[in-house]
Amino acid sequence: MAIKKICCIGAGYVGGPTCSVIALKCSDITVTVVDKSKERIAQWNSEKLPIYEPGLDEVVGKCRGKNLFFSTDIETGIKEADLIFISVNTPTKTFGNGRGRAADLKYVESAARMIAEIATGDKIVVEKSTVPVRAAESILNILRANHRPGVSYQILSNPEFLAEGTAIDDLVNADRVLIGGENSPEGHAAIEELCKVYERWIPRANILTTNTWSSELSKLAANAFLAQRISSINSLSAVCEATGADVSEVARAVGWDSRIGSKFLQASVGFGGSCFQKDILNLVYICECLNLPEVAAYWQQVIDMNEYQKSRFSAKVIESLFNTVTDKQIAMLGFAFKKNTGDTRESPAIHVAKTLLDEGAKLHIYDPKVEESQIMEDLTHPSVTDHPENIKRHVSIYRDAYSATKDTHAIVLCTEWDEFMALDYEKIYAGMMKPAYIFDGRKILDHNALQRIGFIVQTIGKKLARTAVSRSWGSQSQM
Ligand code: NAI
Repeated sequence: MAIKKICCIGAGYVGGPTCSVIALKCSDITVTVVDKSKERIAQWNSEKLPIYEPGLDEVVGKCRGKNLFFSTDIETGIKEADLIFISVNTPTKTFGNGRGRAADLKYVESAARMIAEIATGDKIVVEKSTVPVRAAESILNILRANHRPGVSYQILSNPEFLAEGTAIDDLVNADRVLIGGENSPEGHAAIEELCKVYERWIPRANILTTNTWSSELSKLAANAFLAQRISSINSLSAVCEATGADVSEVARAVGWDSRIGSKFLQASVGFGGSCFQKDILNLVYICECLNLPEVAAYWQQVIDMNEYQKSRFSAKVIESLFNTVTDKQIAMLGFAFKKNTGDTRESPAIHVAKTLLDEGAKLHIYDPKVEESQIMEDLTHPSVTDHPENIKRHVSIYRDAYSATKDTHAIVLCTEWDEFMALDYEKIYAGMMKPAYIFDGRKILDHNALQRIGFIVQTIGKKLARTAVSRSWGSQSQM
């Protein structure tokens, strides 16, 4: 069977960009991305796409209406497709068994049930969502239990490794594509069909084929390793602050070892995003269910260290501001979980904002790509506050960094947007209350230059020598 039509269930951060690039690279394949959310599909069909991702507008612009379609007609999408990607969300369970740790597979299950009800003919069903090991077995059980004559399925695991903010480049120039399938002639044939899709632009040598369970586990493992590096360097940032070592120098010295490598060794306020925490919690839960408590505890530490780092940074802000932020005006630069995305899921900024708001601060928030409604939704969520009306009174959203910082006591930088490096800090300093503080949670600013202007600067993993100006303001400890 040659793949002529692809349907992708789930038009989110993964389904949208992935299928846009497949459409771009495979002009002979019709790609339809379907979603149950009318609003999301309407946005995909509009001039303002539902997600911000560099390069995505151009790709969608080239393909939409030619061989790339966004639709709420899930039934037709499934019926016509030779290959169906399942790219629905797999959040952490918020209730019942495994609450707070296990992946909630209700959306995957509902996608599988829709396929079972609607599909006709032979279908290759591809798990693109990140799922627990052996989830493909559950999908197959649902499909086979609802078997109808003339319909046959092959299930493949094809986890997605794109990173938000660089998704298009990651998809076009993928380090590797991983495809797991059943060890049978039919399984091998299905793997071969999916390989042929990717081979249009990914060299065959970079397409890795494995058994289904290895593929599923590799995705969880890759995210666990990446997050582990961040937690490792963040743990050392605390040692640096206590000893006078500089975490950037340590990271450079360590990363220069070719066995270790230099990537993902940037200390910060902590990692965020929809995947790292969720996927590690899922791994921890799987280990506990497999009666491997030592392995579970090992990976749990990666999450615990991240929580520690977010709390440590927030506590340092408060401590430095004379141990009280009540009624203080604090500018927060950046709300997205990292630069070049508007995604705020699990953003460390939410943790920092919550701590400061709990202490009575007034926040002035600016992020170049996060909508005001999203910031308010995040900060009024029941996990953040019992008093959403207070939040609305204490949080103001601004459209640029200059107005956000005006008349504030301190700046807390939470996202490493490039534009924050290019701001006129002389102008900002002039408009702020004195002493003017900057807490650089991403280590992107020129701290010496800021100190020369007069700011009291604190960052992560480095004790900054105080200038004469900053020394004259109080005796609080430096981070
Ligand atoms: P998302 O929440 O942005 O998108 C999921 C979409 O699926 C939503 O639009 C939702 O309405 C839709 N959906 C859910 N159930 C549906 C159903 N039964 N029928 C039709 N549509 C349905 O999620 P995102 O970020 O795209 O993630 C999807 C999966 O990919 C998750 O498993 C995630 O762990 C994984 N992943 C995410 C990455 C990321 O950077 N966001 C990177 C790699 C993997």
